[in-house]
Amino acid sequence: MPAVVDGVRLDGRVAVVTGAAGGIGQAIARRFHALGAHVVMMDQVLAPLELLAAELLELGGAKPVPVICDLTQAEQIRDAAVKIQKDLGGAQILAANAGVLRPASSVADIDIADWDLTMAVNLRAPFLCARYFGEAMIAAGKGAIVITGSVAAHLPNTTAAYGPSKAGVLALARQLAVEWGPYGIRTNTISPGLVRTPLSEHFYADPEASARRLATVPLGRPATADEIAALVAFLASDAASYVNGQDLVADGGMQFSALRYSAPPQFQRGSASQ
Ligand SMILES: NC(=O)c1ccc[n+]([C@@H]2O[C@H](COP(=O)([O-])OP(=O)(O)OC[C@H]3O[C@@H](n4cnc5c(N)ncnc54)[C@H](O)[C@@H]3O)[C@@H](O)[C@H]2O)c1
Repeated sequence: MPAVVDGVRLDGRVAVVTGAAGGIGQAIARRFHALGAHVVMMDQVLAPLELLAAELLELGGAKPVPVICDLTQAEQIRDAAVKIQKDLGGAQILAANAGVLRPASSVADIDIADWDLTMAVNLRAPFLCARYFGEAMIAAGKGAIVITGSVAAHLPNTTAAYGPSKAGVLALARQLAVEWGPYGIRTNTISPGLVRTPLSEHFYADPEASARRLATVPLGRPATADEIAALVAFLASDAASYVNGQDLVADGGMQFSALRYSAPPQFQRGSASQ
């Protein structure tokens, strides 16, 4: 008999989303809720979380839980995990998605505080979230962790700390895949290319700079946050039950576009650079 792969459903699963007030985080929370999950939305700003919780509540389903948390503070993450354990029986899914992109810098001139903040939010926080929310998954013998990486893990970025923080996230996921696979916990990363969100909005303010940026993407456009959320949901679901330690790159082909500038015109058809 051929194996039957279940559709993407998250019915009844307690799913923690960090950075849930941001562009991709909101899309993940909306999609998780639509797929039947009991969503716990964490961010450092409460008002947008409460608005989103009210929006999701209107749609029916499990009551979303907003949690304010500064992810640079280990004890705040630990306290959130203790509360979710007490109130909801612990997390079954973790989407460690919060991130920061500090102003452009090089290795020679980056403000060291920017380096530290980038590492704290983008790399240390996913480690801490995995450690604290993973306790319930280990006890249950089942769980799924999806960490938001970036194509910058593979391609150097205009901000010196960003790529190293995201490359670290990919290594963290592989480490967890091996350490926690035996407990039935899968860990993967999603690496978006260009996504138009508050984090990246400034790149699109100048039309010329925006066109140059989009010209690096064979598909000629940025991803929507929901296109990324759909892949996070896939990796978090039983549809990806044998995927562990992988990085799913969703960049519209950007990684492979280096030759586009010297390629014959037919390769440039449909490009935003035209
Ligand atoms: N937008 C893109 O083009 C793009 C591309 C690749 C990867 N990413 C990654 O996707 C993820 C989501 O990014 P986004 O584009 O939605 O950005 P965003 O700025 O819209 O959202 C990021 C969220 O993280 C939260 N956050 C930051 N520091 C925090 C802290 N200390 N404690 C708690 N919350 C904190 C912010 O409040 C914000 O709501 C990030 O990890 C980012 O690096 C984004």
